[in-house]
Amino acid sequence: MRRALGPGLLLLVLVASAVAAADKTIPMPPDHAYATLKPGAGVEVTRQQCVSCHSTDYIVMQPRGNAKQWDGVVTKMIKVFGAPVSDQDAKTIVEYLATQYGN
Ligand code: HEC
Repeated sequence: MRRALGPGLLLLVLVASAVAAADKTIPMPPDHAYATLKPGAGVEVTRQQCVSCHSTDYIVMQPRGNAKQWDGVVTKMIKVFGAPVSDQDAKTIVEYLATQYGN
């Protein structure tokens, strides 16, 4: 009797916690409205490539800049922080940022 109880209980606990885990949903708060990237050519690529490490707050809070300045930011994300962005996507993102967040 004693011997069988241990594994049985363990199984019960495992099943119960699996069921509890399956039920759990974690509602995320919506993004800040001000951090929503402005619509425009390249916004999708930018959203895909630039939110895996930080929110778009980082982008929208930057001072406005020309293509050269944004190219510096994107290059830094790739070279220094290891963002896996292709050359083609980087070009699209820089154009998007310089157009929508340019000066
Ligand atoms: C691999 C992770 C990663 C990805 C992907 C990434 N970033 Fe970053 N980003 C960082 C880190 C790390 C920082 C610095 C955070 C800090 O200083 O607190 C940063 C900071 C920034 C900043 C703040 C200014 C600065 O230079 O520190 C801007 C603007 C920015 N990122 C834009 C972008 C854009 C645009 C993209 C898409 C091309 C992008 N990031 C993708 C990691 C990433």
